[in-house]
Parts: sequence; C-alpha cells; structure tokens
Amino acid sequence: VLNTPSRIIRKIDLETDSIDTELEVLSSKIKIEEEYDEYSSGYWQNISLWNRSGCENNTLYSNFNEKGKKTGYCNLLPTITSIVEENFDLTYLKMVRVRTLKNAVLVPHRDFVELDDKVKYFRVFVPLNESKYAYHGDEHSVFRMRLGEVWYLNAALIHSAVNLQDNNRVHLCLDFAFDRDFHPSDIFLNPENFNVSHDVELVKRSVISDSEINRIIDGFSLGIDKHNFKDTLFFLSKIYYTYDISITTVYQWLVHICARSDNQELIEKSQKLQNFMLNHRTLNERFEF
Ligand SMILES: [Fe+2]
Repeated sequence: VLNTPSRIIRKIDLETDSIDTELEVLSSKIKIEEEYDEYSSGYWQNISLWNRSGCENNTLYSNFNEKGKKTGYCNLLPTITSIVEENFDLTYLKMVRVRTLKNAVLVPHRDFVELDDKVKYFRVFVPLNESKYAYHGDEHSVFRMRLGEVWYLNAALIHSAVNLQDNNRVHLCLDFAFDRDFHPSDIFLNPENFNVSHDVELVKRSVISDSEINRIIDGFSLGIDKHNFKDTLFFLSKIYYTYDISITTVYQWLVHICARSDNQELIEKSQKLQNFMLNHRTLNERFEF
C-alpha cells in the first residue's frame, strides 16, 4: 500500500453552504503568524484542529504515541470538525490541519524522510472547496482534487502543489500513524466506505522539446544570482504544471542553470537543496536560501 501513487479512496457528500460560512470565518477571524517555510511561495496557512498538545499554535507534524487532541479552533469551525468526527476513526488520528493555499506553489519534496520508519503513516486530503486552478503532482501524474474527494497522498513519493489563482484553496489534511499493520479502510468509521474506483481529474500538460528546454536553461542562467535563486526555484516549480516534465526535473534544471551561470556558490546551493528536498534531512532541519 505504501508504495502506491496518490489516489482517491472515498467520496464524502459535503454541505457546501455551511462549509463556505466557516471558510469565511477561517479567512476573516483567524490570523496566525506563519512560520518560516522553505517549501512555499505565496500564501500558505496551516490551522491545527487536532494535534499532539491540543495547543492551537502547534502546526508541525511530529512523532508521538497517544491520540491527537482537539484544539480551540474546533469550536470556531464546528461543521469542519464534524466532517472529521462523523467520517473518520479517531483511534490512530494524530493531526488534522486546515490548509489554505492561495496564489502559491509548494516545491517538489518528500515528507517524513526525517521521521521514524517503524511507524506506519497514512495521510489523506479532503478538499473543502472547489479550486479550478489548484493542482497536485507526484512522480506519476498531475491531477486536481475535487470537493469531498478523500485523497490518499503518498508523501514518501516526491510531490508538489500549486494554486495559480488568487482564491483560497482549502483542504483538510489528516495524518494517521499506526503501530500495527493496517488497511487504508481502517481510517474510516465505516470501512465499507473505502472505494478506489472513482475517476480522477488528470491535468493535461504541453509537450516541450529538448531545444526549448535548453533555451529555458540558457535564459535563466543569464539572470540567476543569490537574490533570485529562491524565486527561480518557485518559477521552475510552476513550469512543471505547464509542461509535461518529471517532478524531479525542477531540481535538475536548477543545477544546470547554476552550472551554466558558472557560479560556484549557487552550484553547491542547488545540489544541497535537491538533496534536502528529495533525499535527506534531519528532524526540524531547515534550509538556508
Ligand atoms: Fe508534503
């Protein structure tokens, strides 16, 4: 199961009117200071509904044995909270976050590389609204998650996300951790709701030729410097959603661009970045751009 690509494992009928009212509350009443984040450009907000301590400020996933605890945000967002309680088995639920992405890109990365490999993680997303221009990609395909679909996200595969528009794309993100063998249907209150036969909305991307790729790399190599290195990463991470290239290409191109610009400092930085995002990092390690 854990090597399978991301896929839909259920659909939930959601009451859009009451959810939309709470999404208004979310965007108007809840202002939180965002932590420094090397993964994203644009607006990216995480609200914890369940976490280790029950304390609202805790938004980073960590490793722990006990059940996740509800935070004060559940009182502000009762409909969204009830989606979790009425559909999912809370026994192995560790963390629930409401994640907003607006005019932003999350760069290709692998999650959980810094966590314990004996624990069996299972992460699902449930879109709480429709965002026409918000996409996800992994090593297999590029797709759009639609309202109410329950998506298993294989965070051990390289993945990224984007919302090209200036609207709030809001997802529920649920993290389960099992200390035993499990079946994905175990996360549901009623395991019979597990169903993988739903159609996926795949995103069609344009073909790009080798000579066009060369022109992109040449062009960026003329302009790249330490001040726009991070912007270049975000730009390339968006290009992945336009052209039919593999998700790791973003970092290969960045390394080529830095090599062609002949800037030793940036060559090293781009190689370190690739390694940090895709292969190896320690718990709470950060990347200095
Ligand atoms: Fe991720």
